[in-house]
Amino acid sequence: MVFQTLITGLVAFTSSVSAMALQPRAGSITPPEGCPLPTWTVSNFQWYNGSKSLDCIHNEVDKNTKGCLCGRAWCDPTTCNSTLVNVCYTGMPNYEPWGYGPPQTLNIDFEDGLHCHDEYIGYRIHDIGYGESNCGYADRSLGRIVSFYGTSNEATSTGHMDYVLGAGHALKCANGSSISYSGSTDFPVTCTHDSFFNATCTAAPFEIPVLSYEWVL
Ligand SMILES: *[C@@H]1O[C@H](CO)[C@@H](O)[C@H](O)[C@H]1NC(C)=O
Ligand SMILES: *[C@@H]1O[C@H](CO)[C@@H](O)[C@H](O)[C@H]1NC(C)=O
Ligand SMILES: *[C@@H]1O[C@H](CO)[C@@H](O)[C@H](O)[C@H]1NC(C)=O
Ligand SMILES: *[C@@H]1O[C@H](CO)[C@@H](O)[C@H](O)[C@H]1NC(C)=O
Repeated sequence: MVFQTLITGLVAFTSSVSAMALQPRAGSITPPEGCPLPTWTVSNFQWYNGSKSLDCIHNEVDKNTKGCLCGRAWCDPTTCNSTLVNVCYTGMPNYEPWGYGPPQTLNIDFEDGLHCHDEYIGYRIHDIGYGESNCGYADRSLGRIVSFYGTSNEATSTGHMDYVLGAGHALKCANGSSISYSGSTDFPVTCTHDSFFNATCTAAPFEIPVLSYEWVL
């Protein structure tokens, strides 16, 4: 794949970043001569996974559950006048069907302003805790991918995050070449559970070290 990226606006920015790149940071690679090294710091991490959040990917019961759709809401299925429909069908009015709790949500906020937010939907394209998150569709088309892997079932556990900067966000080196980076890290995840086992998970701020680079043509 050849990316013709528009970098003109970045030149001023990268020349100030290259000064920082002279001091290699703990855990990160030393970038090629004259190339800026990005810093990826997660300043806020919040994950809500309710015990009754609809899960149409991993929960066999949810996959087979039918609900009573009345207008734009869900009604009691035991006194249903209209037809019962699968709660996991696409295009349903909301993702908190009758008998279910609030949907699962994930927020990953970076110090540089990048916000990644997922909210569980029945036909979700992002499977929270199992990989890619949603950092915005515009961003996505530029190739940036932030992935999170972890569990909300333990009080303390180890999460994992991968960061791919993407060709569309390539940085400019002093000699005019464009460079993109990837990184990953494990980090501690802390979850609290209420009496219903609804899980709220957080993590202290952490940095994702830059572990590899690739030239962008
Ligand atoms: C810029 O420098 C890198 C090595 O630091 C090299 O791989 C690349 O080919 C150079 N680009 C140009 C246009 O000379
Ligand atoms: C916790 O779970 C219960 C049972 O599913 C639900 O009714 C309640 O709304 C949830 N509480 C929160 C704060 O999400
Ligand atoms: C079912 O229909 C009856 C009569 O039309 C109505 O009174 C009742 O509220 C309806 N129940 C539901 C759950 O929609
Ligand atoms: C989300 O919560 C449900 C219900 O407690 C649990 O079964 C599931 O494993 C959790 N998902 C993850 C990725 O930990």
